[in-house]
Amino acid sequence: MKKNKISKNWINKQKNDIFVKQSKLEGYKSRAVYKLKEINEKFKILKNGMSVIDLGAAPGSWSQYLSKNIKNAKLLAIDLTDIEEIEGVKIITGDFTEGASKKKIHEYFGRKIDVVVSDMAKNTTGNKNLDSINTGELCIDALLFSKTILHPKGVFISKIFMGSTFEEIIDSAKDIFKEVNIYKPSASRKDSKENYIICKFLK
Ligand SMILES: C[S@@+](CC[C@H](N)C(=O)[O-])C[C@H]1O[C@@H](n2cnc3c(N)ncnc32)[C@H](O)[C@@H]1O
Repeated sequence: MKKNKISKNWINKQKNDIFVKQSKLEGYKSRAVYKLKEINEKFKILKNGMSVIDLGAAPGSWSQYLSKNIKNAKLLAIDLTDIEEIEGVKIITGDFTEGASKKKIHEYFGRKIDVVVSDMAKNTTGNKNLDSINTGELCIDALLFSKTILHPKGVFISKIFMGSTFEEIIDSAKDIFKEVNIYKPSASRKDSKENYIICKFLK
């Protein structure tokens, strides 16, 4: 399919998408918010007073949701792309995979935290297998990082694509966490390989 035909299809999908319409009505920056909302409603993760890092946060709907739903939260968001100010959220622009970014995150919290959420994804290439490998690398990096920053009862939530690295990532998650679940929210498009991994309790 030609590139302009793909983007026309994308525009049509967006126009007719109920989650896009709802996110506009509710003042969220992206339809992605409903993925986190569904995950939270199913797995009952967020509680008042929690500290949470949002990895790959732009344009910011997950951070908006965290800020609205956790009272007295300590929230940090990072993305390669600039994010407009979000009330109650400290924002860093940078590459999460770099050591300097990880150091900044540790320094900002100054202690172990409750939740790591990652919706990080590399730009899609059109090759679904390559896309799943690229995003899988980000997921593994976030998983290993969560081991260093979460307290023992902490939770790690990350985007993961079905594909050649899927099983390997699940095995690594099971080495680190006692509870590992895979979930595809209804807001995650059916024709995408996207799923979410929800891990609880460090081993
Ligand atoms: C699907 S979007 C996130 C949407 C977001 N959850 C929201 O609700 O608005 C994926 C994001 O991951 C970011 N990303 C990809 N690689 C990254 C990296 N190495 N460090 C930080 N952010 C990254 C991209 O810039 C992109 O903004």
